[in-house]
Amino acid sequence: MYWTQTFIPTLKETPADAEIVSHQLLLRAGLVRKLTGGLYTFLPMGLRALRKIEQIIREEMNGAGGIEVLMPALQPAEIWKQSGRYETAADVLYKVRDRARKEWVLGPTHEEVITTLAANEINSYRQLPRIFYQIQTKFRDEIRPRFGLMRAKEFIMKDAYSFDTIDAGAMASYRRMYDAYTRIFRRCGLQAFPVEADTGVIGGNYSHEFMVPAETGENDVVYCESGRYAANIEKATSRGASPSTPTAGTGASPATFPTPGVLTIDALAAAPHSVPAHAQIKTLVYVLDSKPALILIRGDDALNEAKLLAKTGATQARPATGDEIVTTLGAHPGSLGAVHKVPEDVSVYADELLRGARGMTTGANTDGFHLQHVEMDRDIRVSHWGDFRTVRAGELCVETGQPLKIRRAIEVGHVFKLGTKYSEKLNSTFLAEDGSRQTTVMGCYGIGVTRTLQAVIEQCHDKDGISWPLSVAPHQVCLTPLNVTPESQPRQVAEKLRAELLAAGIDVILDDRDERPGVKFKDSELVGFPLRVNVGEKSLAKGEVELKPRGGSMQPAKIEEAAAQIIAFVRAGMAALG
Ligand SMILES: Nc1ncnc2c1ncn2[C@@H]1O[C@H](COP(=O)(O)OP(=O)(O)O)[C@@H](O)[C@H]1O
Ligand SMILES: [Mg+2]
Repeated sequence: MYWTQTFIPTLKETPADAEIVSHQLLLRAGLVRKLTGGLYTFLPMGLRALRKIEQIIREEMNGAGGIEVLMPALQPAEIWKQSGRYETAADVLYKVRDRARKEWVLGPTHEEVITTLAANEINSYRQLPRIFYQIQTKFRDEIRPRFGLMRAKEFIMKDAYSFDTIDAGAMASYRRMYDAYTRIFRRCGLQAFPVEADTGVIGGNYSHEFMVPAETGENDVVYCESGRYAANIEKATSRGASPSTPTAGTGASPATFPTPGVLTIDALAAAPHSVPAHAQIKTLVYVLDSKPALILIRGDDALNEAKLLAKTGATQARPATGDEIVTTLGAHPGSLGAVHKVPEDVSVYADELLRGARGMTTGANTDGFHLQHVEMDRDIRVSHWGDFRTVRAGELCVETGQPLKIRRAIEVGHVFKLGTKYSEKLNSTFLAEDGSRQTTVMGCYGIGVTRTLQAVIEQCHDKDGISWPLSVAPHQVCLTPLNVTPESQPRQVAEKLRAELLAAGIDVILDDRDERPGVKFKDSELVGFPLRVNVGEKSLAKGEVELKPRGGSMQPAKIEEAAAQIIAFVRAGMAALG
């Protein structure tokens, strides 16, 4: 490739609307251009890096027994109604109608399509297990598309689906995909680690996300430094909070006391009342799939909505409005509680940390009053106990007892064990060896390919630009003659090197622009080629060219040894990535 024959529109200025560095560099290095929020055109350098990531994924998927297919992006609404997700995933679905007013969906994922395929094509245990995968465009009506490719409306995903005869088989398929993911991210030069994950709207019962640590990530990961525990905060648990919940009561009955103007946990914790937050019960009113419910957590805790959805099985949860709260409990936020006046048909969910709590204080469901001497078991009708709280840094690890830490991370991949949720609804069954008809056991496995590309940039850059791992760089080597006229010695040496490197299978770009060296150097650092080779008259006079690894220091190389040294550099670097 020659620089003048491709299209690399680098920018000197940082684009104003790009908030995070990887998004800025995508634009500045000329990898992508925005069409409108959440929609991007890939330019040649971005596309080359993308194709390399796809190729790594393909090789590892094939190596793990995956079978590549390609499914339609446009999907009939019927199969989404059949799975139930036409409603439950409605907020991300792009729904479209055709000329006959028939309903369609632009696929945000492909469980429905692949399970329909399996229902039609797989009929015998002899055809199982199978893992199908594709690399394909997805559409999601994201509430907040942002950070470039990180959260887009249209993006490329690798999605794989496994079908097994029994649960243990599904577990083995899951493990195969999990291990392949570990290899994929390592080969992309990305430090990604698996964490236990919530299953969300996909459903299923077992899941891990692959996370890339980054301050700009949208996830919080709770982890133990021992390496023995890591979980998305949506799922994470701990050995509890400190100080522990009071359990020694006075035996006295709940007593009302006036708390005019006290509307928050903090206000009640302050003088004159001075009730510590961990001795208060926080009462939250939520609407779960249109039904009001109370959620009780300790005063110093925060509700975890993902856990609430997972534990209640609701598909949607939102805080009740002021009016809904007054209708349900007869009081305003600030004075809410679950002791008196809770209608019988309202479910009360209580966090495990409140089990056995005594001597607690909570709202009286009368504005301006609270209740003290509350005992959970005696005074509150709890319909369901569960873990509804958000873990905080410093709490103790369930595995090791060491203090947990929390850090931000980018989710690049997600593996789920689905069980029979989709195969039941979409009739994927098979004839078992004993002649009985059984339901296939499924798993699904996604990698955000375009997000992975940006995560590499987020992790691999410096003040001068991107610093690509050799495996995914748009080109591995940038040959930079400092005189580009065809008869000049720098150009001729560069051309000869180019031919030798191409013959050795090295991916080279030759910067044949008639530009000042400074401009060429800056651009190649910005685009981030792993190795630049400067070919200038001065060093040629000494019989040398200059090798400049990205982020490393310049080394001279004898002209006649240069090709061999460059090839060795690339091969060693690639081998190190596995
Ligand atoms: N809006 C998006 N833009 C870019 N990549 C996405 C987007 N949504 C999901 N992905 C990628 O696809 C992978 C699989 O998606 P999934 O786990 O179903 O999504 P989510 O975690 O958003 O529910 C994610 O791990 C992520 O890498
Ligand atoms: Mg996910």
